[in-house]
Amino acid sequence: MSVLIDQKKRIFTLQTAHTSYQMQADELGYLLHLYYGPKTDGEADYLLTFLDRGFSGNPKEKAEGKSYSLDVLPQEYPFKGGGDYRSIAFCMENADGTQCCDLRYRSYELENKKYRLPGLPAARAEEGEAQTLEILLEDGPSGVEVRLLYGVYEAEDMITRSILIRNGGKAPVVIRRAASCCLDRLSGSYDLVHFHGRHTMERQFERTRIRHALTSIGSRRGMSSHDHNPAVILAARESCETAGEVYGSMLAYSGGFFCEAEKDRYEQTRLVMGMTDDQFAYPLEPGEELAAPECILTFTEDGFRTLTHRYHDFLRKHVIRDPRKGKPAQVLINSWEAAYFNFDRETILRLADGAAQLGMDLLVMDDGWFGDRSDDLHGLGDWYVNEKKLGCSLGELIAETERRGLKFGIWIEPEMVNENSDLFRAHPDWVLRVPGREPVYSRNQLVLDFSRKEVRESIFGSICAVLDQGRIAYLKWDYNRSIADLYSAERVPGKILYDYILGLYEFLEMLEARYPALVIEGCSGGGGRFDAGMLAYTPQIWCSDNTDAGDRLLIQYGTSFFYPAVSVGAHVSAVPNHQTGRVIDLKARGITAMAGTFGYELDPSGLSEEEKEEVRTQIRDFRRYAPLIAEGDYYRLSDPFTDGIAAWAFVAKDGKQALLNYVTNQNHAGMDVKYIRLAGLERERMYRCAQTGRIYPGSILMGAGIPVMPEMKDYASGQYLFTAE
Ligand code: GLA
Repeated sequence: MSVLIDQKKRIFTLQTAHTSYQMQADELGYLLHLYYGPKTDGEADYLLTFLDRGFSGNPKEKAEGKSYSLDVLPQEYPFKGGGDYRSIAFCMENADGTQCCDLRYRSYELENKKYRLPGLPAARAEEGEAQTLEILLEDGPSGVEVRLLYGVYEAEDMITRSILIRNGGKAPVVIRRAASCCLDRLSGSYDLVHFHGRHTMERQFERTRIRHALTSIGSRRGMSSHDHNPAVILAARESCETAGEVYGSMLAYSGGFFCEAEKDRYEQTRLVMGMTDDQFAYPLEPGEELAAPECILTFTEDGFRTLTHRYHDFLRKHVIRDPRKGKPAQVLINSWEAAYFNFDRETILRLADGAAQLGMDLLVMDDGWFGDRSDDLHGLGDWYVNEKKLGCSLGELIAETERRGLKFGIWIEPEMVNENSDLFRAHPDWVLRVPGREPVYSRNQLVLDFSRKEVRESIFGSICAVLDQGRIAYLKWDYNRSIADLYSAERVPGKILYDYILGLYEFLEMLEARYPALVIEGCSGGGGRFDAGMLAYTPQIWCSDNTDAGDRLLIQYGTSFFYPAVSVGAHVSAVPNHQTGRVIDLKARGITAMAGTFGYELDPSGLSEEEKEEVRTQIRDFRRYAPLIAEGDYYRLSDPFTDGIAAWAFVAKDGKQALLNYVTNQNHAGMDVKYIRLAGLERERMYRCAQTGRIYPGSILMGAGIPVMPEMKDYASGQYLFTAE
């Protein structure tokens, strides 16, 4: 049993293989957090202390003693209105305009399966893999019920949390904040590890000391965003890659989010995470419900590396619905950087010819094939094939591509519209736009109101009409701006952002139901919506519009903390690179792209014969390594920001094979020799390296490493496959 309940003391313990998570519904009915840490059979209620704390209020029952304050006690779901002045998880507005509630324990339920969420993705579980504990809290005066859901994945050491809110009263209420998780720590000093960035430079690792001030990250863009990723680490000050206490918190949501961390007056640390409350005011009539997205948690004493392995395994097994599973990896060519908007039938078939000669499997025709789309000013929303531009029908193009031995993929951006489009001319009221005001433009496009069913249904119909024109194996789903104008003909503004995301998920679900074998790549100007919510529908996400291998080393380093390589879209592109102007050799570009889904985004006809031969070799290598990259454990072996080298390895679960990769990213005169220490091997075994032909002891490979000699060039790189003898 992974959930233990002490009925008398009302203590609930979630047990996983190496961790315990404990809470107590105390004598007043407040749900206090007791413990999240290394596994224990004991009870941690003795950790709670009660002192008279100045200016911290007390509930009526304890007013006399003055020593019981929600302002100080660790809680599972702190709410506004109970005298807790720290970051809170829940806030509701009553019919009289007051913002208060008093959430008290009512009951619990235990189920031998994983809960599901209405309209939102939630991690899956086969029979016997997970249990659900549901704790019902209620605000007596309003009748509002808040169900805290805990999914316990014992073997994986993961705990999921989510919240279901139901207005069980007689008057309407408005939900102002509904976070998904709160982590209270009674003592210790922590850092917040988070991943910030911008378009073309996503998920940069940053470690911020949590002080006596609010550290707050998130997105108000209606999307999880390039700026911050909805996955963070609460890291004990002394923790590092290979040791120390770290808590992971990942929100499976693709809309705006917040994460707040602070150290309070008494040196206690709190982390709260959930969907954003910016422009959020969700009315609930009596009987209505609202679900908060799932948050996926883990704890380990063994540093970032173990945390990473847990999330990679968990996402691969329980979150990503993957039609690619069990099939050979596909190497694709994408037309974007090869041709941008300037292509026709001949261009696409030239790319197909080139790709086929090099041994690729799939051609993806990117933006520019539909409506009047010859630049980013026109055509979005007009999902019919521009046969005049192409010079043939889509069916013919697909057939011609297939004749060359390649499957066909296509780009769409269903949530958007250009004003200069037939769709906008026919339905100007379908966009998010405030009446009487000019909308905010971004990439010349406006956002369709995906909270509205008729809008979604119409777009779904036109997209299906395209997908039905031939065998389309792959779809790239793009999203190229942030939401700015919140008005919808059908609902109050405070509902739009949330309902929009539900609409997006419903659309993706319908697509998957109709085309179960279709591989969907998520994209949002690269990695602007790289989150576990999207991964539930799009097994891979274009990591960044920046294809420069040098920058990618940093972007992919940050991405690797939570997201497995098999979900990371990565391509080899032409040099000088289109985003940075940098020239990095083909070898380093190939190795870098192999830390992801691997493919090409260039015109093969521009390659020399020598380069073509190198590409053929890369593709052969990738096919050989693909299972290890997709299923192995990922090890970061250096810090590319400080070490002058990016090194990482994919290691088979049984430790018998490892693929070591490195690219140097700082060259100076008189460089030192870099020693990369492998990890995850078996100490006692000998390993043969396919590239050097030498045999190495596992103990020394891990204990001292393998030397990387200085080279007279930038971005020197290498890839070594070690196999146990
Ligand atoms: C976004 C994507 C690119 C490409 C363009 C097309 O920027 O991230 O990969 O598809 O849109 O307009």
